[in-house]
Amino acid sequence: MTPESNDVNVLLVDDLQENLVALEALIRQPGRRIFTARSGEQALSLMLEHAFALAILDVQMPNMSGFELAELMRGTERTRAIPIVFVSAGGRELNYAFRGYESGAVDFLYKPLDPHAVRSKVSVFVELFRQRQELQEAKAQLQRAVSMRDDFMSMIAHELRNPLNSVYLQAQLRRKMFSGSKAQDPQAMLKMVERDERQIRSMVRLLDDMLDVSRARTGMLAIVPAPFDLVASAQVVVEAIQEQARGAGVQFTLAAPATLAVEGDEFRIEQVITNLLTNALRYGEGQPVAVAVGTREDEHEAFVTVRDQGMGIAPADQERIFEQFERTEGAAQVAGLGLGLYIARQIAQAHQGRLEVRSAPGQGAEFILSLPLPGSAA
Ligand SMILES: Nc1ncnc2c1ncn2[C@@H]1O[C@H](COP(=O)(O)OP(=O)(O)OP(=O)(O)O)[C@@H](O)[C@H]1O
Ligand SMILES: [Mg+2]
Repeated sequence: MTPESNDVNVLLVDDLQENLVALEALIRQPGRRIFTARSGEQALSLMLEHAFALAILDVQMPNMSGFELAELMRGTERTRAIPIVFVSAGGRELNYAFRGYESGAVDFLYKPLDPHAVRSKVSVFVELFRQRQELQEAKAQLQRAVSMRDDFMSMIAHELRNPLNSVYLQAQLRRKMFSGSKAQDPQAMLKMVERDERQIRSMVRLLDDMLDVSRARTGMLAIVPAPFDLVASAQVVVEAIQEQARGAGVQFTLAAPATLAVEGDEFRIEQVITNLLTNALRYGEGQPVAVAVGTREDEHEAFVTVRDQGMGIAPADQERIFEQFERTEGAAQVAGLGLGLYIARQIAQAHQGRLEVRSAPGQGAEFILSLPLPGSAA
């Protein structure tokens, strides 16, 4: 049931072409698409193909009468809910000849047709249909939101469970060492504590991300602006990630002027750069990562770019990855929730800045953070 446009479909069924023409002329209107059928069979096949707000059925037709057609419609899931208006030449007693009378919206028009009555009945059903569509849309949106929350909960549970479990195991092990005959080995103890710290840090980071997401959603992502040096920030973050990346052997280079004064929330901007560098480390396939800081004077902007030579991002994914939980197929092997870029872009926008990506599959990715320079009217 793919809607062709926003038009509402109305079906007219009558064995006489001149009746169809007359009726169509009566109810034709912008925003309505009128279909006509000369027989019950033809009508049914149209109904299987399109969604109709209303079917107007001539009662007296050879082969299959309007009532017979209506009964078939009521017996088929796909067509059951379509409201029916019968057009009959007979008296009002005919109303009860349709046995499916109770099962759904049914109405009657009598020949000779009163144009006003026809138009107003059709309008009522078309309006009902529109309202039902809106309701369904709202319901679908709600369902998406609910299922997103459920996914979120199970993801979080999963992401927290493993590190928590490992911290717990470490604690048990330590208890054994304390109570066992073996003297405590300070070196081994230190290693354990360090592992604990790493695990706990990653859990705290995860919870921070969740908090940021809900802050961003409610417009409460607080920015505390103050002058700071963007180059110094980039340096701090690059050094920290370099430390982390040592094991992986990934090289980070930074090209920047001596200083670059900007205004913003230093902590938040460092968070953005950290996200970009973490991604470059995760998805950069071990290749060197180039970070650059500078200005585009003509645009009164400062920028930070992070360029990797990893898996890259397909054009179809390049917008989507900035949404919550959106990850690419290539990233499936790597741990991550898909929140980093969402938060980073929210932070950039809260600074009247932008976060953009340039990439092609297999050719690495470049993320560009742009911030207005102080004094430029944003
Ligand atoms: N440098 C990159 N190269 C290739 N793909 C990337 C890169 N950065 C991000 N992506 C893709 O965008 C997705 C979303 O990134 P994002 O940082 O939002 O989430 P994540 O890294 O998966 O998890 P986390 O919430 O821990 O950051 C990633 O899962 C990955 O598919
Ligand atoms: Mg990330």
